[in-house]
Amino acid sequence: MDNHSISVLISEDELSKRIAELGEQINADYEGKEVTLICILKGSIFFTCELAKRISVPVTIDFIQASSYGSGTSSSGVVKIKKDLDESIEGKNVIIIEDIIDSGNTLSRLLPLLKERNPESLEVCTLLDKPERREVEVDVKYNGFNIPDEFVVGYGLDYDQKYRNLPFIGVLHLEEN
Ligand code: IMP
Ligand code: MG
Repeated sequence: MDNHSISVLISEDELSKRIAELGEQINADYEGKEVTLICILKGSIFFTCELAKRISVPVTIDFIQASSYGSGTSSSGVVKIKKDLDESIEGKNVIIIEDIIDSGNTLSRLLPLLKERNPESLEVCTLLDKPERREVEVDVKYNGFNIPDEFVVGYGLDYDQKYRNLPFIGVLHLEEN
């Protein structure tokens, strides 16, 4: 395996504070309503759990898996649904939970598929956004942090399926030798 190191970009504390703020925002916006969180596997699992704990309106959670990435660090631009939702979202207030928006390809292909199922509302909540990398516009209602154009791992985000379990967001530095 290649040599690499990881430096902390967003600490566990900062993550938890910001996620609590996003929860407050969602509580205010959905007062008197129910929300369905759609967790995009696998990267969004940690974020979805932490966010759901901060939401006080009634919450249901469902999972979908769509991937645009192979095993490396660059996008293939191809999006497949590997695992579909278990429940119908018709008439529901849906919030899609994403770990990171990079090129925007994944969400721009997934959103129309979900819209066709006639939810009452459909919004996007992402923990991280790399605005410099955007190739396709995506309408993001809730965003935890804008980050620079670096490859990050931790808090659900992987490099070759590893490092999802780190409790912070770190920058992955690949070293040549
Ligand atoms: P997009 O389709 O280019 O917006 O990419 C979205 C997906 O690519 C995310 O849900 C992640 O799974 C993956 N991804 C993008 N940037 C990173 C990164 O810096 N670290 C780990 N995964 C990433
Ligand atoms: Mg990934």
